[in-house]
Amino acid sequence: MRIVKTIQELRTAIAEAKSNHKKIGFVPTMGFLHEGHKRLLHQANEDNDIVVLSIFVNPLQFGPNEDFDRYPRDFERDEQIARNAGVNILFYPSISEMYPEEPMMIIQVKKGVDVLCGASRPGHFDGVATVVMKLFQLVQPERAYFGMKDAQQVAIIMNMVDTFNIPIEIIPCDTVREQDGLAKSSRNVYLSPEERNDAPKLYEALQKASDCIKKQTCTRSDVIALIKDDLQKLAYGEIDYVDVLSYPRLEPIEELSGKIIVALAYKYEKARLIDNILVNAATGKEC
Ligand code: PAF
Repeated sequence: MRIVKTIQELRTAIAEAKSNHKKIGFVPTMGFLHEGHKRLLHQANEDNDIVVLSIFVNPLQFGPNEDFDRYPRDFERDEQIARNAGVNILFYPSISEMYPEEPMMIIQVKKGVDVLCGASRPGHFDGVATVVMKLFQLVQPERAYFGMKDAQQVAIIMNMVDTFNIPIEIIPCDTVREQDGLAKSSRNVYLSPEERNDAPKLYEALQKASDCIKKQTCTRSDVIALIKDDLQKLAYGEIDYVDVLSYPRLEPIEELSGKIIVALAYKYEKARLIDNILVNAATGKEC
């Protein structure tokens, strides 16, 4: 595995791979790799000749009062995981390498941002889209892999690729869960033991909603109320949002039809957790 820290080194490594007609699979991350990332790397390995992993905690996607400084980092551990996962090129740039000066321009995401995480994190998805666009330009992969835990992010990246005619296939991969259903996340380490015991109830609430949709007797408001009702009974934390939207357009739909996302964000003392399920409203099956 080659560890490259500069854009120049990365360009050289990519040019070499391209001249050897290698298909590149790309997994962009902010590090502190967990099982979910391993799954993305595994899939990228299966589908491509070469796997590029980037680790970069992108300041552009954090608001002033968010956890940029506290975001967990452990490069040595990540490096080991990357080696074991068969990564060929690990891109690990510094902030000054990615942003030598304040960017002259950023991508403004116009649709699908005033809902879910976008509503409470203004500018977050502009920061995500901008860094992913930069990384796509540098890595020039055939395919890029994203976890569906961040389903809004996946929808926005798909829209970006579509809008700017970027010839990269976006591969969404299923959320990886702990045995008790909690979605794996780098932020789970910030849960107290009591909060950790509580947290699987988030997914349980989503499952209950999915059962309700399956019976085809629920409206959007019923589903939201059902989940909120469950979350309000939890001993710790507070609801950030619960919503039901079309997917991937991310529009509110009172009549549940087509592919829908049921999503929530919940704030514990030191960690804000998100989770979602995608459901085919016609069959009630998760998809
Ligand atoms: O999902 C993440 O880890 C980040 O939002 C991403 C896609 C690596 C961009 O910084």
